[in-house]
Amino acid sequence: MNLQKNIKYFLLILVLFGIASPLQAGSDEDAITYRVRVMKGIGSNMGSIGDVLKGKVDHKQLIVHYAKAMNEASKTVTTIFKQDTRTSAKKTRSKPEIWTKWGEFEDAAKKLEDESAKMIAAAQSGDMAKIGAQMKALGDSCGDCHKPFREKKK
Ligand code: HEC
Repeated sequence: MNLQKNIKYFLLILVLFGIASPLQAGSDEDAITYRVRVMKGIGSNMGSIGDVLKGKVDHKQLIVHYAKAMNEASKTVTTIFKQDTRTSAKKTRSKPEIWTKWGEFEDAAKKLEDESAKMIAAAQSGDMAKIGAQMKALGDSCGDCHKPFREKKK
């Protein structure tokens, strides 16, 4: 009998959490931590491709995987920056312009998606000259968003 009661409570808790958690917006602090981590992942994949291009490691056949990872992550950028954290006390390099010029921010994110897709194609071609040229275009797409939307490092 007691066990049955416990099971009922357990199920109730599951239901409550299952329903309650998606409705609650995460804190601004968590949103900032999350988006910086995703961005660092993009930066890390970029660094991995860079090391191959500089000849530090001999993994040319792996470039396509990092390009794909970046392309997938790029599709999440507008979602993870949507939460307006301008009033948060947490340190962030996100500029207010992200939310005052949201359309332009979306365009910059789309550019990253397009350029990383082109990097997948270049990597699949195996043509190192093509890959090198696309690396430059991909890097430019980072700068095109960072310049207007990311605070300079202090
Ligand atoms: C659509 C806009 C946008 C694009 C495109 C973009 N970033 Fe970012 N990135 C940001 C913003 C905004 C921040 C600051 C986040 C914060 O601090 O809240 C950031 C932060 C970062 C960080 C975290 C480190 C730090 O000190 O802020 C790294 C690393 C990074 N970006 C790398 C890249 C690379 C590499 C690319 C291109 C392959 C790229 N980003 C493309 C907007 C963008």
